[in-house]
Amino acid sequence: MAFPRQRMRRLRQHESLRRLVRETNLTPDDFIYPLFVTVGDNQKTPINSMPGQFRWSIDLLVKEATEAYQLGVSAVMLFGIPDRKDARGSSAYDSKGIVQQAVRALKKQVPDLLVITDVCIDEYTDHGHCGVVKDGRILNDETLECLRLMARTHADAGVDMVAPSDMMDGRVGAIRDELDQAGFPDMPIMSYAAKYASNLYAPFREAAGSSPSFGDRRSYQMDPANAREAIREVELDVEEGADIVMVKPALPYLDVIAQTRSLVSIPIAAYQVSGEYSMIKAAGQQGWIDESQVMMETLLSIKRAGADLILTYFAKDAAQVLNSSRT
Ligand code: PBG
Repeated sequence: MAFPRQRMRRLRQHESLRRLVRETNLTPDDFIYPLFVTVGDNQKTPINSMPGQFRWSIDLLVKEATEAYQLGVSAVMLFGIPDRKDARGSSAYDSKGIVQQAVRALKKQVPDLLVITDVCIDEYTDHGHCGVVKDGRILNDETLECLRLMARTHADAGVDMVAPSDMMDGRVGAIRDELDQAGFPDMPIMSYAAKYASNLYAPFREAAGSSPSFGDRRSYQMDPANAREAIREVELDVEEGADIVMVKPALPYLDVIAQTRSLVSIPIAAYQVSGEYSMIKAAGQQGWIDESQVMMETLLSIKRAGADLILTYFAKDAAQVLNSSRT
């Protein structure tokens, strides 16, 4: 039975009807808001390539996170910008480091907000790589020791979940062991399982001052050409004990999100990264697209592809749109 008996447009005639048959709905509960935290007091430094995003000192970070929480965003992801960097990224696993302090402040002042931390040393190394470097190579197993310490100091500070983003092999298992031995068997791990060597991280690297001083990240992050390899990455992370797996970036990798969805039953996160955010912002500022509409369409598409959680710099703005469309 086809046209004229079948008419696809029947169910598209009224907004109420469209709402009734809508397959995918966003809520502020879907979002994780990434935030950059840095030293100092009363500091809110704009990030040029990410209009509307800032590097926050802890006092103002608490305010920003509180605002997000009040809008219905239930989780934040923290990235630290330390005041000193060295070859092994030791300020990343200092119990008084910037992220450790920020976690303590947030858990004290906004206890119900879920605090997640990025576990990776690139913002803390003077060479900008995500691992320990020797003779121009990024060492895998030596880096695991740094990641263990970093995760444990975050756990000691009271974080709710850790998210390793370095792409070293075996990191999820190493961090799981460390957390279990240190008395944190209930601490969940969200692994950046399929993280591609993407050019869309450029604005983030400006924000965090974490561009590699030599070479690139292609010896550890994935080749954008590969989708089957993402399946292996996901399978391995699940085996090692990941509770949530992430695909990153999001919009150019919807096929990877969809394939991951058909493979695993655990929650999937997708990261709408800095470059995705900046492209929408820039075109919006030019008047070439409607920023708010494109923001919602991209987030919806990421969820439709199979993501349960979305890391997005638009978290607050999108929550606002959703809240106002409900009243
Ligand atoms: C590594 C990390 C990066 C991002 C998240 N975690 C940078 C990188 O891999 O170079 C990028 C996020 C974004 O672009 O929004 N600590």
